[in-house]
Amino acid sequence: MTTYHFPDQFWWGTAASGPQTEGRTVGDGKGENIWDYWYEVEPEKFFQQVGPEKTSQVYTKYKEDVLLMKQTGHNTFRTSIQWSRLFPNGTGKVNQQAVTFYRAYFTELLEQGIEPFINLYHFDMPLDLQKQGGWLSRQTVDAYVNYAKPCFDLFGDLVKTWFTHNEPIVPVEGGYLYQFHYPNHINLREAIQVAFHENLASAKAIKAYHATKQEGEIGIILNLTPSYPRDENNSEDVKAARIADAFFNRSFLDPAVKGEFPQDLVAIVKELDMMPKMEEGDLATIKENTIDLLGINYYQPRRIKAKETPIDHQNGPMPEDYFDYYEMPNKKMNVYRGWEIYEKGIYDILTNTRENYGNIKCYISENGMGVEGEERFVNSEGVIEDDYRIEFVKEHLKYVHQAIQEGTNCVGYHMWTCMDNWSWTNAYKNRYGLIAVDLEQDGKRTIKKSGHWFKKIAIENGFET
Ligand code: GAL
Repeated sequence: MTTYHFPDQFWWGTAASGPQTEGRTVGDGKGENIWDYWYEVEPEKFFQQVGPEKTSQVYTKYKEDVLLMKQTGHNTFRTSIQWSRLFPNGTGKVNQQAVTFYRAYFTELLEQGIEPFINLYHFDMPLDLQKQGGWLSRQTVDAYVNYAKPCFDLFGDLVKTWFTHNEPIVPVEGGYLYQFHYPNHINLREAIQVAFHENLASAKAIKAYHATKQEGEIGIILNLTPSYPRDENNSEDVKAARIADAFFNRSFLDPAVKGEFPQDLVAIVKELDMMPKMEEGDLATIKENTIDLLGINYYQPRRIKAKETPIDHQNGPMPEDYFDYYEMPNKKMNVYRGWEIYEKGIYDILTNTRENYGNIKCYISENGMGVEGEERFVNSEGVIEDDYRIEFVKEHLKYVHQAIQEGTNCVGYHMWTCMDNWSWTNAYKNRYGLIAVDLEQDGKRTIKKSGHWFKKIAIENGFET
C-alpha cells in the first residue's frame, strides 16, 4: 500500500467561471458579453442550441451550491467575476446588483470555511468593448485596468487570491486563429496583438493590485500543454516541439513569471514582420509586474513532429507553418472530448516550473475529465458512479505528489469543475462536475461518487492505493 500525503494547508477544491455558471435573470442588470451575443446571432453553433443564459443558475442558487461545496470537501474555490455583470457596458457605472451578488456569494463561501479565489477574465469580453475591437484595441487594456481596480476595492476585504486571466492563450486561439470564440477571425497578426494586450493588461492589473497594499496575492492561470516531440533524438522534431511550446505556453508563461517574452518567439514574430504595436514603457511594465502565484490548468499534452505537410497559405502565416501535429499511436484517450490522457504531463509541467521558472509558487488550478451521457452511470440511489473520474484524478495526483516530493512549490489541486456547467460552444455536452446538474429538473443538484470521494481525500489530505 502506498500513501500519498499532501503538504499541510493544501488547497483542495474546484474551479468554475462566472459566464459558465451564473446564468441571467430578468432585471439583474448584467450587460451582454460576446457569448450572449454570439448565441443570439448563431445559436446553431452551440451544442443542442443551449446558450449562456441557461447555465447552472448560481446567481440564484449560490447558497445551496456553497453548502454542496462544503459537502464535497472544498477548502478553496475559484470562480470569476463577470466583467459584463459589474460593468454592463464594460466601462462606466458599476451595477450595484452585481456588487451585492458577489459580496453575498463570497461571504457565504467564507462563512462555510471556503476561501474564494477570484479571476477577473474568463473569455467574457463585454460586447460594447468587442465592438471597439476587444483585445485587439489598446482601449480595452485601459478598460480592463479600470474594471480590475474597483474589483480590488469592492471585494478585497473578502478575496485574498486574485487572478488576472484564465487561459489567455484561448481567446487568441479561439477568436483569432482557429474559430471557436467570437469574433472567429483567422489572422496571426491580430492574434499576436491580442496576446500582447492580454499580457500587458495582466501586468497593469498586477501593478494596480500591489499598489493597493492589500494583503493578498495575484497571479494568472495558464493552460500549459507540454509539447512532446515525436522523436526526442530527431533534432527537427525537437525544434518543432520547442516552437509550438513558444507559441502556446511560453508566450504567456515567460512574461508572467520572468517579465520577458521568449527570444525564440520574438525572433519568429520579427521575421514575419508581425511585431505588435506597443507604447513606450509597456515592456518595462511587463518586466516589473510579474505574478505572485501561478495557476496551472492541465488537460492534455501536445504531440509534435517536424513540418512534413505543405504550408497552407490560405489564411496567411499560422503557427502550424512551423510544425505538424503528431498522431501518436496507442495513446490513451478521453474519447468524449477527443483529448489524450497523459498523466505524467502534469509532473513534467511542475518540474519545468521548478527548474526553469524559479520554483514559483503554483497550484493545479484545473484538471478534469469531461464525459458525455453520464446518466448511463446512475445507480439505484440516483448517484452517478463516475469511477473513471476518480481514476483520472488519482493518477494525476500521484504525479503531483511526486513533483512535490522532489521540491516543486505546488500548494493545491483544483478540479474542473464543481457542478456540471455550460462549456462554451459545447454547452452541456461533456460533464465535468463532482456534482450533477439536471437541466430537466430545474438544475437539480446531486453529488456524484467522485464528489464523495473528493471529500474524503480533502479531509484526509491524501489517499492510499
Ligand atoms: C478549460 C476552461 C474552462 C472549461 C474547461 C473544460 O480550458 O478554462 O472554462 O471550459 O476547459 O472544457
